[in-house]
Amino acid sequence: TTYKVGYLVGSLARESINRKLAKALIRIAPEQLQFSEISFRDLPLYSYDYDADYPPEARAFKDAIKAADAVLFVTPEYNRSIPGGLKNAIDWASRPYGTNAFTHKPSAVIGTSPGAIGTAVAQQSLRSVLSFCNSPQMNAPEAYIRFTPGLITDEGEVTVAATEEFLRTYMAEFHTFIARVLAVLPREAL
Ligand code: FNR
Repeated sequence: TTYKVGYLVGSLARESINRKLAKALIRIAPEQLQFSEISFRDLPLYSYDYDADYPPEARAFKDAIKAADAVLFVTPEYNRSIPGGLKNAIDWASRPYGTNAFTHKPSAVIGTSPGAIGTAVAQQSLRSVLSFCNSPQMNAPEAYIRFTPGLITDEGEVTVAATEEFLRTYMAEFHTFIARVLAVLPREAL
């Protein structure tokens, strides 16, 4: 069985180190996982005034979340939380009330930062949001990646063997987690 994984890169920066991490994760993931990026770059700022009539880009974003078997968040930490753009995107997908696209959607959270705690606080914050959105989350392994220059090349190659092995395990566990969740909560039941 193959699974469709939609991934969100929390950063909009051109040289994003989290985008490099996402590239690396895709390279080393089990072949049963098929990845497509779900971009939130063009979403306006959410308000419930839109609930009666979502703009096309918000509709497309939410449909992409719905179509994925699982969602992977690869996010930086900005001011000890997740970037505002990512939170805005999650708000869009969670609304209008009663149509939350994250309901029963398996997810995992990972991120990298040059700082010593490697996005740990942002991930904790994101986990709270995803809990409220009723997304079953992979609890372990956790992955707090401290980014050093050259750790991941522009092509997504991990240059430190131990880190590559760790990330490989992380993605293998995510595959197992998705299979387990979908065995209990099949998509067609939603
Ligand atoms: C940061 N950075 C940062 N790093 C961290 O570990 N904890 C933090 O709270 C913050 N806060 C923060 C706020 C803002 C507004 C910026 C722009 C940056 C540094 C951050 O980890 C670094 O810029 C990374 O390169 C961000 O990842 P991307 O955007 O390159 O993927």
